[in-house]
Amino acid sequence: MPSVGELSGMDQAAFVSALEGIWEHSPWIAARAWAARPFADAAALHAAMVAVVAAATQAEQLALIRAHPELAGRAAIRGELTAESRSEQGGAGLDRCSPEEFAQLTALNARYNARFGFPFVIAVRGHTRGSIIAAFKARLENEAGVERRTCLDEIGKIGWLRLGDRVK
Ligand code: GUN
Repeated sequence: MPSVGELSGMDQAAFVSALEGIWEHSPWIAARAWAARPFADAAALHAAMVAVVAAATQAEQLALIRAHPELAGRAAIRGELTAESRSEQGGAGLDRCSPEEFAQLTALNARYNARFGFPFVIAVRGHTRGSIIAAFKARLENEAGVERRTCLDEIGKIGWLRLGDRVK
């Protein structure tokens, strides 16, 4: 596991490779943040990557949200999740849904996608199936712009948690 100091000394390709998976299928975030090195600590590195997302075009931000799999969705059933998503979804018990919970999540995924055009993203660590379903229902009522920003905030939290597993 590299230290933040070691990351700051890496060339761009090594840096992007060391941070692979922090942002779901979106290596462009680390690639752009590389220009802001050196980083004092993990928080500074994370802040630089969050700033890259904030400065990205709306199309890029939407692509980042859409790079996330649905919770307990088809990719999860087919075993096609990234290691990070599988661990997060499993940690929240989403791989052990009752038939009722699974039916609820499937219906919520469909309603949410139809309303917003992107998947529901929530930093699931610390959540339970019940609290995820409750948040899902509440957020379905949001206005689209609010919900887009909420997804990006949650993706930032996911990135922070993933970064903690990958740098010392
Ligand atoms: N939150 C944490 N992991 C995931 C994921 O894989 N998908 C979605 N939609 N949200 C998440």
